[in-house]
Amino acid sequence: MLHLLEERIERSRLSGATRKPATGLNVKKIEAIIKPFKLDEVKEALQAAGMVGITVTEAKGFGRQKGHTELYRGAEYVVDFLPKIKVEVVLNDDQLAAGMDAIRKAAQTGRIGDGKIFVTNIENAVRIRTGETGPDAI
Ligand SMILES: Nc1ncnc2c1ncn2[C@@H]1O[C@H](COP(=O)(O)OP(=O)(O)OP(=O)(O)O)[C@@H](O)[C@H]1O
Ligand SMILES: [Mg+2]
Repeated sequence: MLHLLEERIERSRLSGATRKPATGLNVKKIEAIIKPFKLDEVKEALQAAGMVGITVTEAKGFGRQKGHTELYRGAEYVVDFLPKIKVEVVLNDDQLAAGMDAIRKAAQTGRIGDGKIFVTNIENAVRIRTGETGPDAI
C-alpha cells in the first residue's frame, strides 16, 4: 500500500506535476505607478523587452512624502494627490524579471516620487477573439 503511494508520488514528481504551484498559471501582473512624463520611455522599454500588451490608466496617488515636497510641472502641488500613470502588464513568469527591469530603468530619475512596481499572480486570462486561455491568451 505504502509502496504504491510512494511510487505514485515519485511518478508525479518526475512528470513535473508538483513543480507548478497549486493555484495560478505562472502568469503574473506588473502594476507600475510611474511619473506621467516617463510613460513613453517605459512603453518603449517594455516593447523592446518583448511585451505585447500594456494597459495604461491615469491615476493619482501619494507615497511617503504625502505629495507635499514633490514638484509637478515646476510647481509645488498643494494637495496630497499627485498625477501618476498606472501601467499594467500581464506576462509569463519567465518574462517577469525583464519586464520589471525595463520599467525600473526607464522610469527612474533618482528623485522622490519615481514610483513603485507591484507584482501579483493572475488566476486566468482569456483572449476573447479566439477563446484561448491561460498563458496562450497573453
Ligand atoms: N504602498 C503603496 N500602495 C499603493 N500605492 C503606492 C504605494 N506607495 C506608492 N504608491 C503609489 O506610487 C506613487 C509614487 O510613490 P513614491 O515613488 O512617491 O513612493 P515613496 O515610497 O514615497 O518613494 P520615494 O521616497 O522615492 O518618493 C504614489 O503617488 C502612489 O500612487
Ligand atoms: Mg514619495
